[in-house]
Amino acid sequence: MTTPAVTNDLLPTLPSQLSELNEAQLNDFATAAETSIAQALDMTTLQSLRVQLTGKKSFLTGWSKQLGKLDSHDKKTYGGWLHQVRSRIQEALTSQQQHLEAKALQTKLEAERIDITLPARGAQKGHLHPVTMITQRMQQFFVQAGFNVATGPEVESDYYNFEALNIPSHHPARAMHDTFYFDAHYLLRTHTSPVQIRTMEQSAPPIRIICPGRVYRNDSDQTHSPMFHQLEGLMVTESSTFAELKGLINEFLQAFFGKALTVRFRPSFFPFTEPSAEVDILDDNGNWLEVMGCGMVHPQVLTNCGIDADKYTGFAFGMGIERFAMLYYGIDDLRLFFQNDLRFLKQFS
Ligand code: FA5
Ligand code: MG
Repeated sequence: MTTPAVTNDLLPTLPSQLSELNEAQLNDFATAAETSIAQALDMTTLQSLRVQLTGKKSFLTGWSKQLGKLDSHDKKTYGGWLHQVRSRIQEALTSQQQHLEAKALQTKLEAERIDITLPARGAQKGHLHPVTMITQRMQQFFVQAGFNVATGPEVESDYYNFEALNIPSHHPARAMHDTFYFDAHYLLRTHTSPVQIRTMEQSAPPIRIICPGRVYRNDSDQTHSPMFHQLEGLMVTESSTFAELKGLINEFLQAFFGKALTVRFRPSFFPFTEPSAEVDILDDNGNWLEVMGCGMVHPQVLTNCGIDADKYTGFAFGMGIERFAMLYYGIDDLRLFFQNDLRFLKQFS
């Protein structure tokens, strides 16, 4: 029998005949194998050692094959020794494999390590939409003046949007509103004035409310958008007057813009106020921009809501929020507010 080639220098050259071996030689062999295995630095080396040490052509296999030719006493002795050697080698292989696997994992983790102390990659801070900022600025003035904030539904009934506001069907004023209808009874509110009715139905004077919110009209050009925002105001007391309304509006405009503007109160008509006016402001280009409608609450509207029109008077106003935003920021097309172009919106941070 030829001695199988073991390329590793550490392995001693041993006789291929089992009967020429003693226990000490086998121990040395196992120790040398263990040292060899412990020095394998990668899986490929370890795998080739496994083949050399335990494979078909290995010393161990060669010796084991000779056991059958021995007498029963020797078979037991040599069998025991060989078993010992094989166990030690197997154990060394397993432990080195685990060691290499752990090391590989460690290397991988090191390579993929995240440095949590690095500064964050430029997180961008957002900001409110300009229309929201203007709404809050408007609201701030009225809240300080003692007004409460009220709300109402955007899907409104014909009754609240028109009827209770003194606008019966077939009234020509309905044509001014370009209403989006769902059916004969429901529509998208065309103004925030229905919140006046809802408020007066539910509470007794004195009343001081504002209501900012979305409204809808089939309307679109530089100063009109199909969805826009109004801020409604309503005050009902035993002594509200038009002079008081005018004073409040002037004070608001002064506080909101922080500078004197050219303002005009222009006589107008709304079925739910009498007398009525619209307020225009001169913009930077010398054009009048209508910013709100207002007036004294019509006695019939008070009566519709169960308020004694002989005892109480009220005034109301409905401001176009985008119009205030246009004047405040110097923007000449209000549709820009709703195109969601970040280059436009980022200018308001
Ligand atoms: C009204 O809507 C009344 N409800 C206002 C009112 C309230 C009067 C209380 C009296 C008492 P008007 O249709 O004029 O009125 O609209 C009010 C304001 O909303 C206008 O002055 C304008 O500033 C703004 N506005 C109207 N239509 C549009 C639109 N399509 N896009 C943007 N703003 C608009
Ligand atoms: Mg108008």
